Amino acid sequence: MAADDATSACRSGAPDNRGEAAVTLAQAPVAGDASLASLPERPASPRFGAPLQAWYPVAREAEARRGVRTRLHGRMIVLRRNEAGAIVAPHQPHLLVVVRAGLVWARQDDGPGQVVPPLIEDPIGGGDLPMIACSEVEVETDYDQAVLGLVDPAHVPMVHDAWWWRASSKRRVKTKQYAPSPFGFTATAADAFASAPAYALTGASRRIAIEFRLPSTRIERVEAEGFRLVNLTTVTPTAPGSVTLRNTIYCSVTPMRALHPFLSALGRAFLEQDARILRRLESRPAPGHPLLFVGAPDQPSLWYYQCKAALSRATDDAPFANPVRATVLQWRT
Ligand SMILES: [Fe+2]
Repeated sequence: MAADDATSACRSGAPDNRGEAAVTLAQAPVAGDASLASLPERPASPRFGAPLQAWYPVAREAEARRGVRTRLHGRMIVLRRNEAGAIVAPHQPHLLVVVRAGLVWARQDDGPGQVVPPLIEDPIGGGDLPMIACSEVEVETDYDQAVLGLVDPAHVPMVHDAWWWRASSKRRVKTKQYAPSPFGFTATAADAFASAPAYALTGASRRIAIEFRLPSTRIERVEAEGFRLVNLTTVTPTAPGSVTLRNTIYCSVTPMRALHPFLSALGRAFLEQDARILRRLESRPAPGHPLLFVGAPDQPSLWYYQCKAALSRATDDAPFANPVRATVLQWRT
């Protein structure tokens, strides 16, 4: 995805490398071996679409306990609680199901030898850090376009305009430090103004880190004096050309559970903004066309595709080689 009007490259890791050349995915250097240009195209392409072996959230734990129908990779899944109290997907022998963070996650089990990105490890969804909001929106769109919305710096200024999320429409230079993290990368803001106004209540000592992990998980962690919050956003490939955007928030201020309906409605409004843009995009993948990436604002999007390619190459004998290198990215937003 190329940089747009709202976000323009200033530099990438160095103070004066303006005017960066655009690179295609095939031209970009990748840690590892094969050239991306040699990767096969659709179907079953590691370049486009959702990795089949990975975990995706498919329902809330609470609704699965009551029994729910949901979808993953075009397949209908029935979830229910068994006699032992565990959430199961009966009659789905090649589907693994696990509960984490108050959500039910599922993945296709295609046998041994597949490298699977781990689930979020944070102890959230329970007593200390309960879920205070949960919202989801179904949208017909290309899977990768939806995931790019989790990493693209142009996304927030272009898509989300709530005052409590974006303080001002005035453009400023934003600087973020990026570092590789398991099956993805993590960004920390280097600017005092960079966090959303909604976080101002947490005080000046707050620390915010945003992790992206394959296949499609964005984990925003906020820590401050006596305060913790985790904001989890995911993209689930429900069927070809259809995804579920899901946002859940967990907070150490447990009385905020009382605000669950209100905060969930805010979250849903947020996701609807994503969905509205995705529906308007010409987002069908075009395997014959090279993907184009321009400068610092597009670096996270390029890393996304490179991470996905690295995952497709990983095996038990050749572990995932993270293509991300620690760097400082800066852009105007
Ligand atoms: Fe968004």
